[in-house]
Amino acid sequence: MASEKPYLAVTCTAPVNIAVIKYWGKRDEELILPINSSLSVTLHQDQLKTTTTAVISKDFTEDRIWLNGREEDIGQPRIQACLREIRRLARKRRSGDEEDQLPLSLNYKVHVASVNNFPTAAGLASSASGYACLAYALARVYGVESDLSEVARRGSGSACRSLYGGFVEWQMGEQADGKDSIARQVAPESHWPELRVLILVVSAEKKLTGSTVGMQTSVKTSPLLKFRAEAVVPARMAEMIRYVKERNFQGFGQLTMKDSNQFHATCLDTFPPISYLNDTSRRIIHLVHRFNAHHGQTKVAYTFDAGPNAVIFTRDNTVAEFVAAVRHSFPPESNGDKFLKGLPVKPAPLSDELKAALGMDPTPGGIKYIIATQVGPGPQVLDHPHAHLLGPDGLPKPTV
Ligand code: DP6
Repeated sequence: MASEKPYLAVTCTAPVNIAVIKYWGKRDEELILPINSSLSVTLHQDQLKTTTTAVISKDFTEDRIWLNGREEDIGQPRIQACLREIRRLARKRRSGDEEDQLPLSLNYKVHVASVNNFPTAAGLASSASGYACLAYALARVYGVESDLSEVARRGSGSACRSLYGGFVEWQMGEQADGKDSIARQVAPESHWPELRVLILVVSAEKKLTGSTVGMQTSVKTSPLLKFRAEAVVPARMAEMIRYVKERNFQGFGQLTMKDSNQFHATCLDTFPPISYLNDTSRRIIHLVHRFNAHHGQTKVAYTFDAGPNAVIFTRDNTVAEFVAAVRHSFPPESNGDKFLKGLPVKPAPLSDELKAALGMDPTPGGIKYIIATQVGPGPQVLDHPHAHLLGPDGLPKPTV
């Protein structure tokens, strides 16, 4: 009987998150420490998730990684930072526990394969779910049980928020070493069952300015961003946490929209300016405000990240009517039957009053499709060996 397992495979999944108080700007580029705290909603993995397999074996001669079936450079600094960090934590854990001898597995090389169940080409952020999943899978395979905020954060700042389900805050922390810059769950996924999320996919084009470079330029040049981080966000974090805890949709929705708008204002205040929103994004903003004005209350709210796609928050009783309003304003060009993906949405008629209130000429094809989803849980371990993306030889299975 072998005393040391020569091979260990773990497969995990991790969710996408969408910030309602935005992270934009770092005070430390190397450690990925933010200039303000942020708060996000974890989206359900039935619609959007990353799946990652990590395998360690005494037979592997080097670390390797495959993303969506293609081998990538393992030497990328952020992947290296995650690997270094997880091995450091694993070593720390062993040395703290004297009875546990240093297992060979700590020195084993790792093979990693990762796939998304959503098209990267849709312009949906995949780095948060991707790095959260990497951190989670590496932790399992190397036997790390401590908080993984630091590991995921070193991959991509927003990734630390994908380590938990429900509503999650990333506390900016104060320490120079980043030890107190951690993610924490504010409320679990079961907390607000009526909440729904609609992703309006506007464009599949690759963005002109990535988040990392965009926020660097903003930190250097935008006085508004400095003001926002110091004087606006702290109070907004407390306010948003209260709205979430109270399930106050009016408050939650309004603050979500205001914070998205302020983030995009800081982008415009950046020099040279950055604009992530396009004409369709602005039409969606207009549509949401008209829809809410017609109802005399905030029934839907938008937020936009570093791209033109809108993420809409609403409640279950409003989804059908809002989707009808979107269909009316952005008639699907060719894919009428594939326009709605994810959770089923019942077709609903649009009243003439609401049509008139929207007061917009339809823009055919402006929105490519909608993904209907809801709040979801954090990372999961898939126990079934069939789930592994890598075979016992450590290479991608042919079907992947
Ligand atoms: C606009 O986490 O992608 O989505 O830390 O440089 O990898 P890096 O940036 P990233 O930035 C996300 C910015 C945002 C807002 C947010 O998710 O809070």
